[in-house]
Amino acid sequence: MSRLVVVGVQWGDEGKGKMTDFLGQKADVVVRYQGGNNAGHTITFGGNKYALQSIPSGIFNPHIKNVMANGMVINPKAALAELEGLKSRGVTDFQLFVSDRAAVIMPYHMMLDGAYETAKGGKKIGTTQKGIGPAYCDKYSRIGIRIGDLIDKDYFAERLHDALAVKNMELKMLGMETLEFEPLYKEYLAYGEQLKPYICDTAILLNEEAEKDSKILFEGAQGVMLCIENGTYPFVTSSSPTAAGVPIGTGLAPRYIDKALGICKAYTTRVGAGPFPTELDGELAHYIRERGHEYGTVTGRPRRVGYLDMVALRHACRISGINYLSVMLFDVLSGLEAIKICTAYELDGKQIDYVPSTLSKLERCKPVYIEMPGWKEEVTSVRNFEELPQNAKNYLHKIEELTKTEIVVVSVGPDRTQTIRRKEIF
Ligand code: IMP
Repeated sequence: MSRLVVVGVQWGDEGKGKMTDFLGQKADVVVRYQGGNNAGHTITFGGNKYALQSIPSGIFNPHIKNVMANGMVINPKAALAELEGLKSRGVTDFQLFVSDRAAVIMPYHMMLDGAYETAKGGKKIGTTQKGIGPAYCDKYSRIGIRIGDLIDKDYFAERLHDALAVKNMELKMLGMETLEFEPLYKEYLAYGEQLKPYICDTAILLNEEAEKDSKILFEGAQGVMLCIENGTYPFVTSSSPTAAGVPIGTGLAPRYIDKALGICKAYTTRVGAGPFPTELDGELAHYIRERGHEYGTVTGRPRRVGYLDMVALRHACRISGINYLSVMLFDVLSGLEAIKICTAYELDGKQIDYVPSTLSKLERCKPVYIEMPGWKEEVTSVRNFEELPQNAKNYLHKIEELTKTEIVVVSVGPDRTQTIRRKEIF
């Protein structure tokens, strides 16, 4: 198999960075196809920890072509700072390609992200405040600036004039300071100049790579439950992290996509607001949060934690056509007497096995659980599935049974080496 999509099948933060890095050792190309610097992909190797936000996870390997594709929203200032940060830590030999069609996150997008949230009062989405939603809005309203515009002086001036005419009206209405053309124009032209060596038509590059049968890994950000189309709307992000997002977000023909690997935690987490039927609180939540270091990579917020939700997981696997699963942070669950798995929801006295589309219904859903015995042993040094405690194996087999999907990788710690590989898939 040559083209694999790595998809988060929960509410993001599943450990996609580690898996992309792990599988990416064999990739020719690693591609980010949606989202922006709202993502936080953590990679740990050789005693070093890196938190990537918009740069693809293959950046550490000089042989890998890293692509920031057209479906992304890119904050040029943040992306350049991220690159500088990597260079200062010795990551200097890399290949990076930035799509000329990717959307630019402008300062007014971040201002508006904050203003919209404030206006929502108690109904805040809890966005990362990186301007993601407003940048995607402008793209679809056709007043967005694209990365390629930043290296075309006259055209950029025209686009920025047009965008500012609308955006300044909006900022004024919201009681915010308006922005002047000249300083913004100069600043973003300078970013364009710095990004120029990386900017190209990445759709051509990707289709050529696919024709050569190169190994391409697509690195989804966030997770299916945060998908604008299929997630817990409106508490979602503004792009589609599903495998279906790949052709649109890259310009690579759908026929080239071979398989999708779903990444899930051994439990569930969510940052930001929105329904979370299996959410836990108290001592158990604290135990999982501390063992799993469940604090946001981007915002530092404590993540909400809960039991594994099979209804949501099945929904995500169905929508993304998940072929295999990788279970992350498995070591976190050691030491628990018993572990529950949500297998269905109870909605208004009836049992259902699907995720309702409306928020009001989802908020009324109560989890229906099965309980499985836990295991005491730490598993961080286990490298072979058969050596896991029997109850740990039973838990994993139950996930396979309930999702009808084979688990090919079990992660037992943050380091690249702390990985149980059951099957080669890439
Ligand atoms: P936005 O993507 O910043 O607009 O935020 C929308 C929702 O998606 C919020 O609940 C965020 O917390 C969530 N979100 C965005 N990016 C990530 C991520 O990488 N991991 C987990 N949650 C995310």
